[in-house]
Amino acid sequence: MKQLLDLLSEEVGKAFEAAGYAPALGRVTISNRPDLCEFQCNGAMAGAKQYHKAPMIIAGEVAEKLKEQSVFTKVDAAAPGFLNLKLSESYVKEYLNEMRTAPKFGYERAGGAKKIVIDYGGPNVAKPLHVGHLRSAIIGESIKRICRYAGHEVIGDIHMGDWGLQMGLIIYELSLRKPELPYFDEQYAGDYPAEAPFTISELEEIYPTASKKSKEDADYKDKAMEATHKLQSGVRGYRALWKHIMEVSVADLKKNYDDLDVSFDLWKGESDVHELIPVMVEEMKKGGYAYMSDGALVVDVKEESDTKEVPPCILLKSDGSALYNTTDLATIKDRMENYHPDMIIYLTDKRQDLYFEQVFRCARKTGLVKPETGLVHISFGTVNGKDGKPFKTRAGGVMRLEYLIREIKEEMFKKIMEGHAESEEEARATADIVGLSAIKYGDLSNQAAKDYIFDVDRFTSFEGDTGPYILYTIVRIKSILTKYAESGKQPDGVKLGEAKSASEKALMLAITGFPAMIAGAVEELAPHRVCAYIYDLSNAFNRFYHETKILTEADADTQAGWIALLMLTKDILEVCIELLGFSAPERM
Ligand code: ARG
Repeated sequence: MKQLLDLLSEEVGKAFEAAGYAPALGRVTISNRPDLCEFQCNGAMAGAKQYHKAPMIIAGEVAEKLKEQSVFTKVDAAAPGFLNLKLSESYVKEYLNEMRTAPKFGYERAGGAKKIVIDYGGPNVAKPLHVGHLRSAIIGESIKRICRYAGHEVIGDIHMGDWGLQMGLIIYELSLRKPELPYFDEQYAGDYPAEAPFTISELEEIYPTASKKSKEDADYKDKAMEATHKLQSGVRGYRALWKHIMEVSVADLKKNYDDLDVSFDLWKGESDVHELIPVMVEEMKKGGYAYMSDGALVVDVKEESDTKEVPPCILLKSDGSALYNTTDLATIKDRMENYHPDMIIYLTDKRQDLYFEQVFRCARKTGLVKPETGLVHISFGTVNGKDGKPFKTRAGGVMRLEYLIREIKEEMFKKIMEGHAESEEEARATADIVGLSAIKYGDLSNQAAKDYIFDVDRFTSFEGDTGPYILYTIVRIKSILTKYAESGKQPDGVKLGEAKSASEKALMLAITGFPAMIAGAVEELAPHRVCAYIYDLSNAFNRFYHETKILTEADADTQAGWIALLMLTKDILEVCIELLGFSAPERM
């Protein structure tokens, strides 16, 4: 199905042509003066130069031609040469009735389907998830869903940090606490226990303790680095312990991501490409890209046009150990060989901007990817507290994701209990669903690159640009539809009628933007476009709702038309929140 603005542009283009001008001048946009008109065309101004004519004259001639057709009910030429347009009620009605039956409400992908790997989440094993990981998970999940909706083949990979110093820290600390464990006995040749020698809570305590010690004690840090090295070089007991750490943490991570309704197709990590590193490094040396510099093996990635310094990628440190970027490069190699993506998208905070610039340049230069493979880093801003500083716990510590989710759900529960006399149990269940919308919408409604303020009060409000407001709108529509059905009327087969009021027309026009909005969200990988659309749509619906007595309408056809309009609004809102990664409750 064609996008509305394209159809209208064709109509106006024909009028330009009939008046003797280039049809391309007929580009129609949504009006930026909604008080005057619904749509506008600025082509007369653009054509003035080309045709050496005053724009007002061109606009007037085109307006005359446009009056001969029935698409627009109002066509005004306005100084200095605008065409102000109002769409006919019947045209809008037809368009929406077509949207209702078209797949994906008329959205069609431009271009072929791509294979896309999205690298998001990026938790570091054994370290608790903090609010910084929230954005990666929420935005990545939404982008994954948006790309899938567009028909692309998308593989979501969590890319865990599971191979670095934090592993060595834990292992070394354990060796001090429980030296009797067989993992530390180099002579031991038997099987290791199946059960991990620690629980998740112990693990969560061990890591910060070890990390703190390593910062205060250089010798401790050396030992931890040695343990990391031993792990990476394959010492049997260390590998076995590493496996335990992974099992225990991954189970915990899964629970956390489940709570957020975030899921991954691949649970791979830095450790998975360990074996690929020597091969890759060899190839980079052979290709003449990697060379020794101050004992380290590096690849230059600076370019002539650089205005800032872009340091080389260090592949191997002087002790031979690999770095974060080495595993990222090897991961690209792995992905290209095993999944053949057309594009790889990464989500991390903006502090890794330069880092990804280096990695991408290195991957291109050394031929790890094809020239046409897209490498995209979507970097996001910081989550701040109301004081404008990075979000902290009340005690000033790093905010753990779990606590933050709990806080939002608790606040939501309070608000729901205040509003209705539901059972506490139902209120809890609803609070979980609505709370998730509060967190996700609060994040996604901002442009990813911007910092935002995590404001529990605002995010959980039922009014304004919030998740709960959107859900409230959906629940409101559901309730009307239920009542309609309960009155014994059949919603199947109803069709939209022509708008009878300004608010109804505005709602209908808001709906028509869906295909274009999705196209934009896919193109820009921008969930905030979906948020902006459903906020406008919800506002348009609520205005219509407040002005219209739907359930008591006496004229059955008019009422049926409204029911069709409501169903379309609800279906679209539900698809959109699904793309954002949350859902609506039955009641709230
Ligand atoms: N674990 C990393 C961190 O916490 C994020 C990983 C992002 N993905 C990647 N391929 N580097 O900063």
